[in-house]
Amino acid sequence: MRIEEPKILAALPELGVELQREVSLAELTYLGIGGTTDLLRIQKHEAIPDLLKLLDEQGVAHKFLGGGSNLLVVDGELPFVVLQLVKGEPEITLDGNIATVDAAADLGRTVTFCAKNNLGGMEGLIGVPGTVGGALRMNAGAYGTQIGSYVREVKVYRAAQRKIEFLHGEQISFEYRHTSFAPDDMMLAVKLELPSKPYPEILQGIRICNEKRRSSQPLGQKSAGCIFKNPPGGSAGRMIDELGLKGFSHGDARVSERHANFFVNAGQASAADMLALIADVRERVQQAYGVTLENEVVVWNA
Ligand code: EPU
Repeated sequence: MRIEEPKILAALPELGVELQREVSLAELTYLGIGGTTDLLRIQKHEAIPDLLKLLDEQGVAHKFLGGGSNLLVVDGELPFVVLQLVKGEPEITLDGNIATVDAAADLGRTVTFCAKNNLGGMEGLIGVPGTVGGALRMNAGAYGTQIGSYVREVKVYRAAQRKIEFLHGEQISFEYRHTSFAPDDMMLAVKLELPSKPYPEILQGIRICNEKRRSSQPLGQKSAGCIFKNPPGGSAGRMIDELGLKGFSHGDARVSERHANFFVNAGQASAADMLALIADVRERVQQAYGVTLENEVVVWNA
């Protein structure tokens, strides 16, 4: 979608919002799939209420992009513009056991920065790609750790109220890959309360998780991490593997040989290829096990 409305174009500079034309979402997502649209890069959180009011008044549909690591975007010209936060400076500030982190900060860098300051707890999240905001919205987790456990306060733009609010950790429910935030809430910053731990001990935990991840996941390939959530008490990866579907493909969208719940873009996969593979695998698992797998990956349809 191309922003043509003069009212919006005139307001962007004073809101501190940078407009990038016809950006390819394939270049902004880990899967390397997705069509084109205008991208609005937001420098100041305080500009968001006015910007969104303007977009709504002018009927311009929009979506928020985090790090693009858990996202499948449809092909072609997209019928919405994309908003993304520019990293604030500093990205992380520490006060005792509290780390205040910008939503646009990289999750892995946040884990290591806190570790170097003897703040642990998040070792399991070390290899999870993406931003802190994205991790927060999905309650990202791995190796027994989930980010929600450490959340003390979240600064969020609440679309329904059209304002920036600070929510206490207890006001938010964090479940398995799910939170109580509304789909159009936008994460802006978070205060994490982390346990004190000596750096060498944290480093040891980080190394173990990195090793586990390297040995079981296709890290060098284009993927969005796990495609499906694990069903209660089960493992999507194991079921897909048991059905002999490793290497199964639709076009260049392929079930990873290394981990069957990772679907990779092995070349020039389109969103249609990937969606067909997801639907096909879901159907086969349903037939064989009577279990309907739910997407873990977020899909931006037209
Ligand atoms: N397994 C197979 N074949 C496979 C893959 C897995 O038999 O191809 C078996 C494994 O041997 C193991 C079981 O399935 O016995 C579970 O596998 P794994 O330990 O790899 O964990 P997972 O349940 O597949 C979850 C998360 C990952 C996270 C890891 C580590 C989900 C959907 N996945 O994977 O998160 O990294 O645990 O904690 O919850 C993600 O969120 O994108 C993600 C990758």
